[in-house]
Amino acid sequence: MNINNLLIPLSILLLFSFPFSSFSEKCNPQDKKVLLQIKKDLNNPYHLASWDPNTDCCDWYVVDCDIKTNRISSLHVFQANISGQIPASVGNLPYLENLEFHHVTNLTGTIPETITKLKYLKYLTLSFNNLSGPVPSFLSKIKTLTYLDISFNAFTGSIPPSLSELPNIVDLHLDRNQLTGTIPYSFGKFIAKTPHLYLSHNQLTGEVPKSLGDMNFGTLDFSRNKLVGDISFLFGTNKSLQTADFSRNLFEFDLSLVKVPKSLENFDVNHNKIFGNIPVDMTKLSLQFLNVSYNRLCGEIPVGGRLQNFEATDYFHNRCLCGVPLPACK
Ligand SMILES: *[C@@H]1O[C@H](CO)[C@@H](O)[C@H](O)[C@H]1NC(C)=O
Ligand SMILES: *[C@@H]1O[C@H](CO)[C@@H](O)[C@H](O)[C@H]1NC(C)=O
Ligand SMILES: *[C@@H]1O[C@H](CO)[C@@H](O)[C@H](O)[C@H]1NC(C)=O
Ligand SMILES: *[C@@H]1O[C@H](CO)[C@@H](O)[C@H](O)[C@H]1NC(C)=O
Ligand SMILES: *[C@@H]1O[C@H](CO)[C@@H](O)[C@H](O)[C@H]1NC(C)=O
Repeated sequence: MNINNLLIPLSILLLFSFPFSSFSEKCNPQDKKVLLQIKKDLNNPYHLASWDPNTDCCDWYVVDCDIKTNRISSLHVFQANISGQIPASVGNLPYLENLEFHHVTNLTGTIPETITKLKYLKYLTLSFNNLSGPVPSFLSKIKTLTYLDISFNAFTGSIPPSLSELPNIVDLHLDRNQLTGTIPYSFGKFIAKTPHLYLSHNQLTGEVPKSLGDMNFGTLDFSRNKLVGDISFLFGTNKSLQTADFSRNLFEFDLSLVKVPKSLENFDVNHNKIFGNIPVDMTKLSLQFLNVSYNRLCGEIPVGGRLQNFEATDYFHNRCLCGVPLPACK
């Protein structure tokens, strides 16, 4: 058999298959270049082994391409064994909507300012790493952000007041860092409606600014700080507060005077210096969680609603609180 008889169909096959495979590559060449730079900047980690220059970057691990434009819209690195810093090159993926580095062992350093170039960024998750330094105020320049999570890191310094200027922010997680100073006055001037604010497990001090009473928050989590004073102004019949966690601070106010919002579902104020009685209106709430232990409350626990469904330990260690589930009042 003549060898040419075999080679001719083979070459035709190659001729057709090669242009076809490159034609089918969806990946934007500029994005691919940037991703390979990011991989290099992260010291070619095993986690990004699928990032092979000879394959379509839309098929690579931990990235997504937009269905219409094929531009990289998401980079989500999580539970990875990577040592290094967040590469400044992430700022060169102009269509990124979601950027995530979550639970990356030995991800250190600060947040690169280049991320302010990302004009479509909605979700920024940099949680559970070892990032440090101050929380950069330039984050407030990313006007598209709806979700910002830098929790579980080692950030220090005070909270940048400018974060309240993020017009679309819904969830702001600054919890589990080493932040100091007071809650900014500007946090009573969020442009966004009903934000969820998480500031727990830091070293925040001072009083909560009265301006926060003008806002309508969905969540306020201030637990495990060193905050002081009266926060009764954060409540109100017309608010839509669902979760209020003020536990383990030094708050001191009369709970009897608090107008509880009907929306309240989770109420944790354990370990403070709160006095007075539990308001009767609390029997009208659909409470999922309550803990008022370790305060200075007094009087009978109002009967009704969910209040008798909680454990005695949700009420214990108060001055003279009594009635079910605690022992009867004398
Ligand atoms: C993480 O990477 C380092 C360095 O490449 C390696 O020595 C170590 O075994 C890896 N750890 C895990 C849990 O994969
Ligand atoms: C951060 O660093 C500490 C101490 O070096 C280490 O114990 C911890 O596992 C690290 N955390 C992450 C998420 O890498
Ligand atoms: C993390 O960094 C520490 C200290 O530099 C090093 O001992 C450890 O091997 C690193 N871990 C990984 C997974 O690279
Ligand atoms: C609460 O809302 C009602 C109805 O919109 C209004 O009449 C009332 O004045 C408000 N109360 C307060 C304390 O803002
Ligand atoms: C309420 O909080 C106190 C103080 O942290 C704790 O000891 C108790 O177990 C909590 N109650 C419940 C039911 O978790």
